[in-house]
Amino acid sequence: MERTFIMIKPDGVQRNLAGEVIKRFETKGFTLVGMKFMAVPRELAEKHYDVHKERPFFSSLVDFITSSPVVAMVWEGEGVVSGARTLIGATNPLTAAPGTIRGDFGISIGRNLIHGSDAIETAKTEIALWFGEDELVSWQPAA
Ligand code: CMP
Repeated sequence: MERTFIMIKPDGVQRNLAGEVIKRFETKGFTLVGMKFMAVPRELAEKHYDVHKERPFFSSLVDFITSSPVVAMVWEGEGVVSGARTLIGATNPLTAAPGTIRGDFGISIGRNLIHGSDAIETAKTEIALWFGEDELVSWQPAA
């Protein structure tokens, strides 16, 4: 079954939006298979955002992600990678559609509340980066 990596960023935690975000994934019908509340080591943040390392905002992005705890999660379900991106909304909260997490709660591209893997292959890489196999629980909700 398809899985994706989701992180509630420091701004989402600081603004007490973790429960709201989790609720949206639960009520959509996706299944939580891993979750941890953690301070992010700088090396992990740099690896996670490696694709952006040449961008001007890279160091401020890493500073921000390591500034305060995050909630790292793995969600499972049919089409969960693109489905999660739909729930999350566009990268820039100012243009994200109302009804999406970023559209409803954010205004800043650098403080956009949540990260979701952008493709199935990226999801596999990010899940392996953030979670050990023993931290993921395969289970089936009752029918
Ligand atoms: P995320 O989905 O975590 O992936 C990369 C992050 O880089 C993105 O969300 C934004 O938070 C951040 N980002 C992208 N563009 C900019 C920008 N122009 N200025 C600051 N941060 C940015």
